Amino acid sequence: MRRARGQVPTPPELVARMVALARPWAGGLRVLEPGCGRCPFLRAFREAYGAGFRFVGVERFPEALDPPPFAEVHLADFLGFQGGPFDLILANPPYGAPGAGIGLGEAERRAYRKRFATWYGRYNLYGAFLEQGVRLLAPGGVLVYVVPAGWMVLDEFRRLRRFLALEGGLEVFYLGRAFPGLKVRATVVRFTKGGRGLKLYQGFEEELWVDPDWQGGMVRFPHPKALALEREGVPLGELFEIRFAARSPELKRHPLTRTAPGPGLVPVLTGRNLKPGHIDYETPYSGLFFPKERAGLLKPFYARPHLVVGHTRHGKVVAAFDERAYPWREEFHLLPKGTPLPERRMAALVEYLNGPEVQGYYQGLYRDAVPHLTRSMLERLPLPRDLLLLRKSVCPNGQSD
Ligand SMILES: C[S@@+](CC[C@H](N)C(=O)[O-])C[C@H]1O[C@@H](n2cnc3c(N)ncnc32)[C@H](O)[C@@H]1O
Repeated sequence: MRRARGQVPTPPELVARMVALARPWAGGLRVLEPGCGRCPFLRAFREAYGAGFRFVGVERFPEALDPPPFAEVHLADFLGFQGGPFDLILANPPYGAPGAGIGLGEAERRAYRKRFATWYGRYNLYGAFLEQGVRLLAPGGVLVYVVPAGWMVLDEFRRLRRFLALEGGLEVFYLGRAFPGLKVRATVVRFTKGGRGLKLYQGFEEELWVDPDWQGGMVRFPHPKALALEREGVPLGELFEIRFAARSPELKRHPLTRTAPGPGLVPVLTGRNLKPGHIDYETPYSGLFFPKERAGLLKPFYARPHLVVGHTRHGKVVAAFDERAYPWREEFHLLPKGTPLPERRMAALVEYLNGPEVQGYYQGLYRDAVPHLTRSMLERLPLPRDLLLLRKSVCPNGQSD
C-alpha cells in the first residue's frame, strides 16, 4: 500500500544534496515541502540554514504524516492545495501513472485532467506535482524536486516541458538509479520561476549541455557521434508514418478474436515475437488468435507487409520486416509515406536498424532514462542517404542525392 501511494522515502544524502541546491537568498523565506510525510526536506533545510524561515508541509495521507514541531502542516491533497505563494519548494513527489494502483479513482483522475494544463495522455502524478509547484512559486522562487527521468523524453510530458520552458529556467541533474531497490532512473530538477533556458548535468557536478533558448524539446544527452548522424541522415519520420499496434482491450473485444488455435487463425504477435531481423510467427505469446485474412479489420495496415520496430527494449532498437502481414498487439508499425522501398533496400534498412551504429546512436542520446523507444525518438532516428539511394519518389520533402 505504501508504494502504491507513492510513499518512497528519499535517501538522506540525496535530501542533503537537494537542500544544498535551494541556496536561500534571504531570511524569512516561505519554504514548502509537498507530499511531506516525515518532512525530511524541511528538517534538513532547517539544519543547514537555521530556523529563520516559515516552514510548511502538505501531506494527503494521515498515516504517512510525522512532522517536526516547527512545521505548519496541512493534511490535504497537494494537487488541490490553495496556499502560497512560496519562495522555495522542495519535494520527492509521488509518482505512478494515475489509475494504475496509486489510489486515484476515475472521477479524481478526470478532475486532475481538467485542472492541469500539462496533463496529457498517460500522464503521471509527478508531472501534476511539478505544474502545481510551479504555479505556487513566487516570482524568482526556486523549486527543487527529485522525479523519474521519463519527463525528459517521453511524449506524454511534452506539454510539461513546454510549460517549464515558458515559466522559467531549468537545471537538470541526471542521477540514474538513485533509489536503492528501485529500477526507476531519477533526475533532480532545479527550476527558477521567471528564469530561462536549460542546463543538463551528469550527477551534481559534470555540466553536459547548456541551451539558453530551450523551448521545451526532449532533453537528450549531447552525444557528438549521434548528433553528427542526425545532421547527415534523413529522419525516419520523413519516410515513414509511425503507427502503434491495436491495444489489448480492442483486440479482446473484437468478435473475431479467439483464445485457441483453429482453421485460418494465426497467433496475434507481441513484442516477444519480434527478434532482430526476423519474426517468430509460431509462438502464441499473446494467447490470442485472429483470422489471418481479416487482420486488416483490426488495423488496415496489418493487411500489408511492413516494417515493425520494438517499443520497450531497454536501450535497444529491434526491427524486422513482417512479410506475412500478421495481426499484432504491440510495437510500432512503419508505413511508407511515398513509394515503398524495394525489397533489397528494405533488407538493408532492417539490418541498419538492428546494427551497432543505431544502437550507439540511441544509447548515446537517451542512455537508460526510460526503457522505451518513443514515437518521437523513432521519428528523429537518422537514416543514411546512401542506404536509401534517395530518389524524390521515396523522400516526400524532395531531398535527394
Ligand atoms: C515519495 S514520498 C516522499 C515522502 C517524503 N517527503 C520524503 O521525501 O521522504 C511522497 C509522499 O507524498 C504523499 N502524497 C501522495 N499523494 C499526495 C497528494 N495528492 N497530496 C499530498 N501528498 C501526497 C505520500 O503519502 C508520500 O508521503
